Amino acid sequence: MNPVPAARIQFLPEDRAWIADRIQEVLASGQLTLGKYGSQFEKAFSEFCGVRHAIAVNSGTSALEILFRTIGVEGKKVIVPSNTFFATAGAVVHAGGIPLFADMDPETFALSPETVQPLLEPGVAGIVTVHIGGVVSPRMPDLVSLAREKGLWLVEDAAHAHGSSHGSTGAGGFGLGATFSFYPTKVMTSAEGGMIVTGDERLAEESRIYRDQGKKSFAENAHVRMGYNWRLSEPHAIIGLKHLERLPAMIADRQAIAALYDRGLRPFKNLAPLPVSADGTCNYYKYIAVLKRKTDRGELKKVLRERYGVSLAGEVYEAPLHLQPVFARYARGPLPVSEDLCSRHICLPVFSGMAEEDAARVLGALEEVVG
Ligand SMILES: Cc1ncc(COP(=O)(O)O)c(C=O)c1O
Repeated sequence: MNPVPAARIQFLPEDRAWIADRIQEVLASGQLTLGKYGSQFEKAFSEFCGVRHAIAVNSGTSALEILFRTIGVEGKKVIVPSNTFFATAGAVVHAGGIPLFADMDPETFALSPETVQPLLEPGVAGIVTVHIGGVVSPRMPDLVSLAREKGLWLVEDAAHAHGSSHGSTGAGGFGLGATFSFYPTKVMTSAEGGMIVTGDERLAEESRIYRDQGKKSFAENAHVRMGYNWRLSEPHAIIGLKHLERLPAMIADRQAIAALYDRGLRPFKNLAPLPVSADGTCNYYKYIAVLKRKTDRGELKKVLRERYGVSLAGEVYEAPLHLQPVFARYARGPLPVSEDLCSRHICLPVFSGMAEEDAARVLGALEEVVG
């Protein structure tokens, strides 16, 4: 029996050929960065998100740092979830800000007005929320209202959420700006890459300046900002452009597997899927399920892999950021929900092109091991 991998990247043969042809073209032309494919990728992505501006960069991490630099977080406090990837808080620090770690909402694994409220204090400039696993919280409108009421900006780290939505608003369209990652594990990839989206003309313009060494414009060598080389190359843009075209179909594949898991997990006593609101779209970057009792997750993953050939995907997240040594100076005390749920959830394998029989095997193995 073939093992069930935790994840797999899908590039159809015809898409690989399309990409290869265009990489040949840019190699022949010598236009290898900041060219027409980068512009096409930006245009297509902004249309996909329904947000006016999109700025392509070389990672989700740089997208975050650029956005924080353009907004201006230096010396300011920024509320970030403790349950997120290193880069969300890391980018705040790199841009000169001070992260205040918030606990997570157990219903969505994300921020909610209740988790943000205890951190509203003088010096707070804004809030960064993360759509964990591609789930856009149904509390987003409340979070938007809270931010507006308190005069704070709201940024979405939408690294997980390409194509996800709540109500009629897509991920990337809720706040002042949002960032996406195209790292290979994500629902769509450009190998490496990221995107900033914003409806704000000034932030868009500033982001373009920051991504190219703080240069006033591509043709001028006047450096007006402390920028960096955050540019996306043309080969990466070509890969991203094609994967973006495939994104709706890839999300539909993931949703079909998720529906099998939803049904299959119903009788389980010790494992429950994270509920996903029917009012919107979830791209199922991750299929999150919560273990009802404390379990040695490392051992569980080992047994599933070694006895059943089933590899679980990486957690979101294994440990909250306020417990990471590098952020110790920003930690203020326990965040009980994050500490509990980070240790008590698993992520089932889900990817585009996954066979239904593989989902059945995952469920069968979980039934025997977890029940
Ligand atoms: C929530 C979150 N933010 C930011 C990033 C950083 O993206 P990248 O790996 O493209 O730099 C990631 C991805 O890995 C992520 O999961």
